[in-house]
Amino acid sequence: MTSPLAGPADAAGPAGGRRPLRGAVALVTGGAGGIGAAVVEALEAAGARTAVLDQEDALERAAPAHPPAGERLLLDCDVTDAAGVEAAVREVAERAGRLDVVVNCAGTAAIAPALELDLAGWERTLRVNLTGSFLVSRAAAPHLARAGGGRIVGIASQAASVALPGHAAYAASKAGLLGMTRTLALEWGPLGITVNTVSPTVVLTPLSRPNWDNPAGDALRAQIPVGRFAEPGDVAAAVVYLAGPGAAMVTGHDLVVDGGYTIR
Ligand SMILES: NC(=O)c1ccc[n+]([C@@H]2O[C@H](COP(=O)([O-])OP(=O)(O)OC[C@H]3O[C@@H](n4cnc5c(N)ncnc54)[C@H](O)[C@@H]3O)[C@@H](O)[C@H]2O)c1
Repeated sequence: MTSPLAGPADAAGPAGGRRPLRGAVALVTGGAGGIGAAVVEALEAAGARTAVLDQEDALERAAPAHPPAGERLLLDCDVTDAAGVEAAVREVAERAGRLDVVVNCAGTAAIAPALELDLAGWERTLRVNLTGSFLVSRAAAPHLARAGGGRIVGIASQAASVALPGHAAYAASKAGLLGMTRTLALEWGPLGITVNTVSPTVVLTPLSRPNWDNPAGDALRAQIPVGRFAEPGDVAAAVVYLAGPGAAMVTGHDLVVDGGYTIR
């Protein structure tokens, strides 16, 4: 049976260097979420074939937005489950015949003043945002290297660089992601793999709406020089750049998509 991700054997060519996105195979964790879905659509619009790794309930909720079976591979996978991640990444690479791009977009946030933040919320946030990104990157790197190199893009946050009230666990997870990204970029550069992050300001999605769709959000928005929150498409465009041929010499970088919020 033909795999939904299978393309012409020579579709992508060598994945490293200035490989075009057309024909490349991209895996997006959290791809059923607000930002992840926009990333998947933007990568597909650029010609990539995609696989979405997300939790079953999120995949079901997003089902109407997904095209008919056969065009996009959907995998139920908890990014904090090391064995499950290894199996899911292997399945994508085997069914597609290659893996070129990984976007670590799965995320969660326990938001509370530090004195009220419970250990479970702290650990869940670190485990999904940081450990999950590590597990997926580590599982993917051999497949990316086998394809001649590739791209890893993590979705970090402005909270990695500036203090936001209630964001102790989230900030720690995203600052950790930036540190991990620089180290992976150093270690995997010789394999032809670039590793970068995108750090958005607030994007109104199911994750952020409870925290920012309120007067606190209005106050934050007023401090963004361009005068608005980011849209999922703003983040997706940055991911497409970092995953595409124009960013071949960019690695270990955090691309801030915040309308200028963090320049002060
Ligand atoms: N929305 C914002 O304001 C904002 C700002 C900066 C950064 N980010 C980051 O962008 C990413 C996407 O956020 P979003 O706003 O689209 O949120 P979202 O809640 O809409 O999407 C997150 C997705 O991650 C999935 N996910 C959560 N835990 C998972 C797990 N253990 N295994 C697999 N999948 C899991 C969810 O099912 C969901 O589909 C996150 O990493 C988030 O931290 C968001």
